[in-house]
Amino acid sequence: MNIIRKFQPSDFPSVIDIERRVFNEHDPYLYMQFYETCSEGFMLAEINGIVVGYVVGFQTSRKTGRIFSLAVLPEYQNRGIGSNLLEEIINYLRQRGAFEVILEVRVSNIKAKRFYERHGFYQVRVLKRYYNDGEDAYLMRLSLGPRSS
Ligand SMILES: CC(C)(COP(=O)(O)OP(=O)(O)OC[C@H]1O[C@@H](n2cnc3c(N)ncnc32)[C@H](O)[C@@H]1OP(=O)(O)O)[C@@H](O)C(=O)NCCC(=O)NCCS
Repeated sequence: MNIIRKFQPSDFPSVIDIERRVFNEHDPYLYMQFYETCSEGFMLAEINGIVVGYVVGFQTSRKTGRIFSLAVLPEYQNRGIGSNLLEEIINYLRQRGAFEVILEVRVSNIKAKRFYERHGFYQVRVLKRYYNDGEDAYLMRLSLGPRSS
């Protein structure tokens, strides 16, 4: 069964393992910092007790949410798990009052860009040499629309 739940410190080794296999570019310490500073926006996907993906998102201002990282283990991709995690974090940011969500994605990451576009994100601009290795990023944005209240 696929469950989305909040990160707990005991999940740290699983998250670091996924990060290494999927990105291998973030300092593991960052993830403990996320837990300390924005634990509500740090969520995991679990299948039959195995952590298979995670997402980290937080508000950068009252109106803007940012997704820092979203990853699913390669052997669990293309089953809707990334979409589940993305929908959870968007709902969380919407409930917190954000009316836009932004994120960055490598220009070479065609799959992720298409995935985000399918979920309503669009490319705002190119961020030159955004990553440590010099690669550019697309800044992408999702509008959550006007709030009713
Ligand atoms: C981007 C990423 C998070 C997507 O996760 P995912 O679990 O594969 O996402 P989903 O399964 O929801 O969607 C992926 C594709 O599978 C398809 N899919 C979803 N459920 C499916 C199902 N039950 N059967 C068949 N296909 C399915 C979707 O249509 C989607 O197609 P698209 O890419 O053409 O839009 C994942 O590929 C990943 O971890 N990539 C490496 C890290 C990364 O690039 N992160 C994003 C940058 S921060």
